[in-house]
Amino acid sequence: MIASLLTRPHVACVRTIRSVRSMQRLALRWRQQGRRVGFVPTMGYLHEGHLSLVRRARQEVGPKGVVVVSIYVNPTQFGPREDFARYPRDLARDCALCRTAGVDVVFAPTDAQMYPQPPGAEYSTYVIEERLSATMEGAARPGHFRGVTTVVAKLFNVVLPEVAVFGAKDFQQARIIQRMVRDLNFPVRIVVAPTVREADGLAMSSRNTYLSRSERAQATVLWQAIQRARQTVRQARRSVAAAVLQQQLRRFIQRQPDARVDYIAFIDPRTLEPVRLVRPGTHMALAVWIGQTRLIDNGRL
Ligand code: PAJ
Repeated sequence: MIASLLTRPHVACVRTIRSVRSMQRLALRWRQQGRRVGFVPTMGYLHEGHLSLVRRARQEVGPKGVVVVSIYVNPTQFGPREDFARYPRDLARDCALCRTAGVDVVFAPTDAQMYPQPPGAEYSTYVIEERLSATMEGAARPGHFRGVTTVVAKLFNVVLPEVAVFGAKDFQQARIIQRMVRDLNFPVRIVVAPTVREADGLAMSSRNTYLSRSERAQATVLWQAIQRARQTVRQARRSVAAAVLQQQLRRFIQRQPDARVDYIAFIDPRTLEPVRLVRPGTHMALAVWIGQTRLIDNGRL
């Protein structure tokens, strides 16, 4: 479908670039012209959450700036038993959405472009953030953030953005990218935009498409657990012990027949360090399996 879209000039499609060299050349030209570049990295199968980041990027660079969206299902951030192969992909649909959202360029590189494997000269350089990556998603998914920081560093070097927008939906990821940019002196400003939710509170995610009807109904339990924690903490006159709240929420979530808690964390929103006492302003992050699908969410209490 994408091939026919791209070869038929009368079918409007956003400019799509598949090679690193072409993207970097264009980015360098924009830089020479003094055009501001806003960037939204994604793995595609776009939803309203992604599009809210696109709108934010446009606000940041203004009507004369350019907005680039990358669409790349990055193999290095998936574990061997994770969902890389079945991760949803639909480039034609994504390009159409990008066009209506006012994106200027979609950068959709191939694996061979991003991780070349010529015999004897395989890809071998990685970016590792060592502190914030140790807990929560990093502990549950070994190597995940190494893949994320590596691909985001590469994308920054190819797209050369002035500003890049990330979603609070992946709170730990956003903090790690901010740390990487600071530590490695990337000349990129990181904006973190709010989580977009379905009407019933479920955080939008490309992985929600895995859920059956019954699982989709149960999946709202992540958001309900955050709201419950918020209520408890705000009603309590003193701080609440994290261990006690964790136990209560675990029981609450596992009342759903197909729900299994991976972790519930109460953390300092800046350092991501776990806290022992939970109070208003503490951040809550959780990962829950709903059947075969692993969902994450987070929020400020
Ligand atoms: P992906 O899961 O496609 O998400 C791309 C961006 O969209 C991330 O910054 C993510 O936090 C944001 N996002 C996802 N769901 C959102 C929602 N409901 N509301 C607001 N923002 C949302 O995150 C990745 O891809 C990858 O790890 C990537 C950074 C692209 C590196 O491969």
